[in-house]
Amino acid sequence: MRDWAVADAKNRFSELITKALEEGPQRVTRRGRRVIVRAEDDAIDAPAPRGRVEYEGHVARPAEGLRVLLIIGGGIAAYKSLELIRLLRQSGVAVRAILTEAGAQFVTPLSVGALSEDKVYGDLFDLTDEAEMGHIELSRSADLVVVAPATADLMAKAANGIANDLASTALLATDKRVLMAPAMNVRMWTHPATQRNLTRLAADGVVMVGPDEGAMACGEFGPGRMAAPAAIRDAIIRLLNNEARPLAGKHALVTAGPTIEPIDPVRFLSNRSSGRQGYAIAAALAAAGARVSLVSGPVALADPPGVTVKRVETALEMLGACEAALPADVFVSVAAVADWRPDRCAEEKIKKGQAAKAIGLTENPDILATLSKPGPNRPGLVIGFAAETEHVEAHARAKIAKKGCDWIVANDVSGDVMGGVENEVLLIRRDGAERWPRMAKEAVAARLADAVAAALTARGGGLTGRARCADGAHAAKPSRRRRWRRRARRSWRSICD
Ligand code: CTP
Repeated sequence: MRDWAVADAKNRFSELITKALEEGPQRVTRRGRRVIVRAEDDAIDAPAPRGRVEYEGHVARPAEGLRVLLIIGGGIAAYKSLELIRLLRQSGVAVRAILTEAGAQFVTPLSVGALSEDKVYGDLFDLTDEAEMGHIELSRSADLVVVAPATADLMAKAANGIANDLASTALLATDKRVLMAPAMNVRMWTHPATQRNLTRLAADGVVMVGPDEGAMACGEFGPGRMAAPAAIRDAIIRLLNNEARPLAGKHALVTAGPTIEPIDPVRFLSNRSSGRQGYAIAAALAAAGARVSLVSGPVALADPPGVTVKRVETALEMLGACEAALPADVFVSVAAVADWRPDRCAEEKIKKGQAAKAIGLTENPDILATLSKPGPNRPGLVIGFAAETEHVEAHARAKIAKKGCDWIVANDVSGDVMGGVENEVLLIRRDGAERWPRMAKEAVAARLADAVAAALTARGGGLTGRARCADGAHAAKPSRRRRWRRRARRSWRSICD
């Protein structure tokens, strides 16, 4: 290869790595001597450099924006919790710490605060702290509560519901999952009382990491050493992604807004859709961890954070953009697609006197029905919306059958729903219907995202392609996407190591 070609290949490769950083490692594969990044519009590739490749910061931050409340108990292993904070911060996790009185004998609030870049909490009855953030709020403002090191004392308090300091009160008051990394002397660990507490905590849903076995600070040998900070960090990220981002690794395709169908360069057919509900759904799915592609008609809304938006105008463009975005695990068709388009769009503005008596109309393709068709690219879960002004449930049920989707979110649009801020919907699945009370469109979106997450995770993986739909209506086949992802992850590791 000539010199310029080598330089060009290197530039291309670093461009790919930058893209991978932005879009996540699961989208990068190495095939032979080429690296392939599945980008939004197309796959791009470049020759892989030979040998070991080091890229600073090459690991995509896997838990960006998630929050942990870290309780540091009093044990020699407390020094490892400083490294844990550093690793969590590196992964994008925000850490807020409670340092128990005993914990403060081993590490200082200053080092904990410097690493967590946040205030460190210590005393339950500090009036300033309570005014700033009450202990109840402190325990709930995180996505996960972590106790590391979890001493025999903290475990005993948590197992028995004792709340006599800030750490134990936070553990009793929290509504979040708790992860503990026990650390104590081997005899304390094997003592029947600790083992009893362990069983109780497990029954309460507390997740344990470690302890490891080995030589201990007290000179004894056996189980009781706190797990390595990297192992605790990995367990935290796994749990965070399951708890706060149940749709991590899933691709959601959403349509929103109206379509506009041109009559001439200045006039068009359209409808009153504001796009607000579809945008809220795209945002809620992204907040639940999904990679979201939003295909939007013309609306006056800002792009939802973390969502890839493709703006289109006509129904034909919307269909094309949706097909290009496949495969997807879930498709939510919220757009108010114009059912017809003028037979022809005049090249010049039609003058007053020249207008035909009637505009000839051609029916637009039905995007929802097209994407619902069984086939390798059918999303595992397809959700339509039904805008009705009468007999809402009956018409919506007929639409499930007609379009072949799995669920329909039916709403009565005879009032102020189109363009309004609230919605009252009926979620119809093949096996039943749920009426949701009137609520903000964002709340409808959050509830729908929860339902999607429950349906997709119930089957424990991607439902892309011919995998079963959430109600089991389609032919089952193990997801090729999952196998592809596993392969991609392996290749990514081999690219980076
Ligand atoms: N839809 C679509 N493509 C179309 C028309 C509708 O994808 N050309 C989708 C909408 O996004 C929605 C569902 O189909 O998810 C139902 O849309 P709706 O307007 O309620 O019904 P229509 O199919 O247009 O039927 P009708 O107007 O007769 O009620």
